[in-house]
Amino acid sequence: MSSLERVGVSLDQHLLAEFDQLTAKQGYTNRSEAIRDLIRDRLSAEQLEKPTANAVAGIFLVYDHHSTALTNKLLHLQHDHVLNIVASTHIHLDHHNCLEIIIVKDKVQKIQALADKMGSLKGVKLSKTNMISIT
Ligand code: NI
Repeated sequence: MSSLERVGVSLDQHLLAEFDQLTAKQGYTNRSEAIRDLIRDRLSAEQLEKPTANAVAGIFLVYDHHSTALTNKLLHLQHDHVLNIVASTHIHLDHHNCLEIIIVKDKVQKIQALADKMGSLKGVKLSKTNMISIT
C-alpha cells in the first residue's frame, strides 16, 4: 500500500452537508473513504475516455432465445474474441427472454466495438455495457 498523505480541503458548509447526506445514504461511515472512492471514480472515468486504455466490462444483453440465428451469431462473436472473454453467463428470464452477461477484458475501443456489434444484432432487445478501467 502506498503511503498516506493528509490533505486539508476547504468546502462550503452546504456542499459538505449535501456530500455527507449522499455518502451516508450510500452506506459510507467514513468521509475519507467516500472522498477516496469519488477520486478513484473520476480518475477511472478519465481513463475510459482513452480508446487504448485497459478495461474490463460486463456486456448485458436481453434477447429472445427463439431466434436461433441470433443465438448462433452471439456464440460466433464470443468464439472470435475467446482470448478476451473472461466469462459469460446465461439466465433464462422467462419463456421468451434470456439475459446473457459477457465479461470481457480488453482495450476500451475493442470492448466498445464488440458491445456495439452484439447490441446491434437483430433480436437483441436491450444491451448495456458497464465498463471499469484497470491498470
Ligand atoms: Ni435462456
